[in-house]
Amino acid sequence: MILLDGKKTSADIKEEIALEVRDLKNKGADTPHLAAIIVGDDGASITYVNAKVKACELVGFESTLIRLPKDTTEEDLLNEIAILNIDKDIDGFIVQLPLPKHIDEQKILMAIDPDKDVDGFHPTNVGKMALNLPTFISATPFGILELLERYKVETSGKHVVVLGRSHIVGSPMSILLSQKRKVGNATVTMCHSRTKNLKEITLQADIIIAAIGIPEFLKADMVKDHVTVIDVGITRLEDASKKSGFRLVGDVAFDEVAKKSDFITPVPGGVGPMTIAMLLKNTLLACQRKS
Ligand code: GUN
Repeated sequence: MILLDGKKTSADIKEEIALEVRDLKNKGADTPHLAAIIVGDDGASITYVNAKVKACELVGFESTLIRLPKDTTEEDLLNEIAILNIDKDIDGFIVQLPLPKHIDEQKILMAIDPDKDVDGFHPTNVGKMALNLPTFISATPFGILELLERYKVETSGKHVVVLGRSHIVGSPMSILLSQKRKVGNATVTMCHSRTKNLKEITLQADIIIAAIGIPEFLKADMVKDHVTVIDVGITRLEDASKKSGFRLVGDVAFDEVAKKSDFITPVPGGVGPMTIAMLLKNTLLACQRKS
């Protein structure tokens, strides 16, 4: 069993990006600049956004964090986006999700200039991704492709089973892996809450991508020997024995499934750390595209 180490791989990618930033600076070119908007005071969201800003500093990017109160109106948020859209200093920006209930998420995502949409959530960029045209691939699917590539996990001709049909993971993952691309050319089955005979399907999988948000859902009796497992789930479970008061659990019963796996991602330390590295990669791309 080989652990797909997202912590180490993301550190490698950040080092590569830092070298590219140094080159840009030496050439007198612009330094990549990422902005993030966060609305409200959700603890997990603040942690994620702070980690994104910290990662910018680490690789030598500039960053701007815009914190707005939880009662910010949709109109005010749209105004902030309009300002970032025309700000020449900003290469890319994100609006951290989820947003408070009174704000229409889709409307907000559609207001972002697709050329600055480093999350890859704008319909224009989702459409380009689906057509296999150059675009920003959103961070989680992009990170999974990168992990599979760097660990040389063969996907061509393999049967990939994707669990979950979310817009940010399951759906793009199933599209990308079926495409004619370096990490792709797979036969993909997408499963979701209405799927019947799920176990029958997962038992046929060479590669399983679990992205449903149900802790330890995938058990050893649902996978065949030599499977590759990518666990996207990350649920906080209360745990009084931890200083933080919680522990992080994936969608996979790791200990038992790992025994049957050739490759598997841990939680935490698998897909999670990759997402920030890929956001940085998209920001670098946005900056390079501009020049
Ligand atoms: N919330 C959880 N994941 C993400 C992400 O990748 N981007 C944004 N903007 N919000 C998120």
